[in-house]
Amino acid sequence: MERNHKTISPTAFNHIIFRTHYGLPLADKFAEAAEKFSPPEHLFSRETIRNNSPIFEGRYKGGEQAIEKFAKKNPNCVVLELAAGFSLHGADLVRKYPKMKYIETDLSEIIKMKEKIIKEIRATVPNIFFKSANALDPAAMKKIVSRIPSSRKIAVYCEGLLSYFDDNEKKKIAGIIHSILEKNGGIWITPDPALDINARKALKRLLPSMRRAVSKAGKMAGRKLDNHGFRSEEETDKLFHACGFLVRKYAWPVKFNAMRISGLDTAQKESLKKILKKHGKTWVMSVQ
Ligand SMILES: C[S@@+](CC[C@H](N)C(=O)[O-])C[C@H]1O[C@@H](n2cnc3c(N)ncnc32)[C@H](O)[C@@H]1O
Repeated sequence: MERNHKTISPTAFNHIIFRTHYGLPLADKFAEAAEKFSPPEHLFSRETIRNNSPIFEGRYKGGEQAIEKFAKKNPNCVVLELAAGFSLHGADLVRKYPKMKYIETDLSEIIKMKEKIIKEIRATVPNIFFKSANALDPAAMKKIVSRIPSSRKIAVYCEGLLSYFDDNEKKKIAGIIHSILEKNGGIWITPDPALDINARKALKRLLPSMRRAVSKAGKMAGRKLDNHGFRSEEETDKLFHACGFLVRKYAWPVKFNAMRISGLDTAQKESLKKILKKHGKTWVMSVQ
């Protein structure tokens, strides 16, 4: 039976707050405007937000670095962000790369909120297009990419999505992305496999608030994270290979703006940096 993915949507709200600690130009304004849409019962405690912000900053910036690398080589590329939630990648990147076209997709409720917030803060975001689509619906995805000329390479990006998927859903989305890239050329970028069970174990051992965050996100989404997502780096690579992808991996940046407000002591900060240095990677995949 197809699962209802709407239950995953509330997990997007906390990331608006995490992002105010990364030094991003639009984050504070965006968070202020988004407050009225964010249900308090879905928000993490302040301590959880502070302690865990460096982890999600690493993931966010690691992903964005890979998109930028691609955009520098392919200035007129199209970035197709799946399950974009309240990400600010597009809003930042279209200003830096004026020839880039950025398509943000998510389930319709989230896209509607995002459009309202962007309008309210009057962000100048030329070349961003918001589209409602279930990333697991081949017809919806095909429709979105059908108007992209084959001369434009595509970077498909997703962050914070695959950890909620079981293996069948991961294979399904991999198949959809494979067909998109076969036609236009390009890459699939995702930092999601980095927070696999091994990484989460190490993080939970260090930070009780990480344990609380994983449990709360799992409850919100109606799917226990440890039964979904990725189990190990080796298994992840095998799965992507089996789906027809060549896999490269790039390390996340190691300097974190959010470390200052993390509330962690010196020893905890050092341990956190070590864990992120070991596990923090972005997967960049092309069609074999
Ligand atoms: C943890 S949030 C991450 C959002 C965003 N990428 C970020 O980093 O802030 C998960 C997102 O996945 C979206 N989502 C879940 N299942 C989806 C699906 N099948 N198709 C499209 N979006 C989906 C949710 O609506 C939500 O915005």
